[in-house]
Amino acid sequence: MKVEFYKHNIGQQDIDNVVEVLNSLFLTTGEVVSEFEYKFSQYLGSRYTVGVTSCTAALHLSLLACGIGPGDEVITTPMTFIATANAVLFTGAKPVFVDVEPETGNINTDLIEDAVTPRTKAILPVHLYGQMCDVRKIKEIADKHNLSVIEDAAHAIEANRDGIRPGQLSDAACFSFYATKNITSGEGGAISTNSKEIAERLKKLRLHGMSKGAAERYSKKYEHWDMEMLGWKYNMSNIQAALLLNQLENIEKRWQRREQICQMYEEAFEEDLGVTCLKVLPNSKSGRHLFTIQVAPDKRDEVVRQLEERGIGVAVNFRAIHLLTFYRQAFGYKRGSFSIAEKIGDSTITLPLYPKLSNEEVQYVIKVVKEVTTS
Ligand SMILES: Cc1ncc(COP(=O)(O)O)c(C=O)c1O
Repeated sequence: MKVEFYKHNIGQQDIDNVVEVLNSLFLTTGEVVSEFEYKFSQYLGSRYTVGVTSCTAALHLSLLACGIGPGDEVITTPMTFIATANAVLFTGAKPVFVDVEPETGNINTDLIEDAVTPRTKAILPVHLYGQMCDVRKIKEIADKHNLSVIEDAAHAIEANRDGIRPGQLSDAACFSFYATKNITSGEGGAISTNSKEIAERLKKLRLHGMSKGAAERYSKKYEHWDMEMLGWKYNMSNIQAALLLNQLENIEKRWQRREQICQMYEEAFEEDLGVTCLKVLPNSKSGRHLFTIQVAPDKRDEVVRQLEERGIGVAVNFRAIHLLTFYRQAFGYKRGSFSIAEKIGDSTITLPLYPKLSNEEVQYVIKVVKEVTTS
C-alpha cells in the first residue's frame, strides 16, 4: 500500500472560485482578498486580518509593525520551522531561544522571564503542531516587561485554549496557507490582530509602504500615492484568496476528520512502549495540523527509512533549529543548549494526517509503525 504524506482537498468549488477570478479584471489584491480577510476574522473572532503571501512574510511584517529592529531581541522556541527565527533575523533583531515543555513541545513559559534582557522587545511563541501555548501567561509576562507578543499560529487556525483563540490576546497572530497546511492556497499567509493601528501598518508594509493599494488606485480617479515607509512586496492576490474561501467554510468539518485520525493514532500507540506521543491538554483544542510520534533517538532515522520503504510518506518536524549549521555558526549554539527541544528533535517522526486519509490507510500506518519500532 502507498500512503501519501499529504493530499490536498481542493475540490470543484475551489476551482470554480479561482476560475471566476481568472475571468475577471482583477487578479491581484482586491475584493476577493477583502472578503477572505473579513471571513477569516469572523472565524477567528478577531477584528482584523491582513492577507499576505506566506506565514514567513506574516511574521516578518508583524515584527516590523511592532517596531522590532536591529539590536533588539525576540524570545522564541528552537522547536519550530526555521521561518520563525529567520523572520526575526530579517528585521535585524536576534532570536533568543528558550527550551520547550516535554509534554507538548511548546515554549516553556516558566523559562521565559529568565531570558528577558533590556534588549528584549517581543515574545514569539509557536503553537506547535496546532496546540496553543499558554498565551494568557505569555501576555502577563509581556505586559510586566512591556514586550509585544506575536504568535506563530501557522499550525493552529482552528485552535483554542481556555476559550482564547490565536490573535485575541496578542499583538498579532501569523498563519500559513502553504501547500500542506490545514487550508491552502499553495503559498499564502495572513495576520490577524485586534489592533486597528497594527492592521493599518501591516496593510502598508505588505505593499512597499504605499499609501494606496492597487484596488484603491483602480476604483477611484487617479490621485498621486505616496510611499510612507519602507515596505515589502508581500500582498495576497485575489487568486490565492479565491482558493481559500470555500476551504474556510469547511474548515471545522475537515478538522473533525483530522481529530478522529489523531485519536485513532493515539489509542493505538497508548500501550506501545517503543512509541510515545505528545499530549493535547484538557483545556485545549489543537488545530491538529501534524501528528508526530517519538521513538528512540538512535532508531529514528532507521524507522523513517523503513516506513518510507513500506510506502508511507513521513517527515521530521522539526530538528531543533539551534543545531542547524547556520544557527550554530552565527550564535555558537551547541548540543545541550536546549535539551528538551533536542530530545524531541532527535526522536520525532511525523505521520500522514489529512481528511482524505482513509481508516484503512490509518490502520496500515499503525501496523507498520508497530512492526518497525519493535523489530
Ligand atoms: C511553525 C511554522 N512557522 C512558519 C512557517 C512558515 O510558513 P510559510 O511557508 O507560509 O512561510 C511554517 C511552515 O511550515 C511553520 O511550520
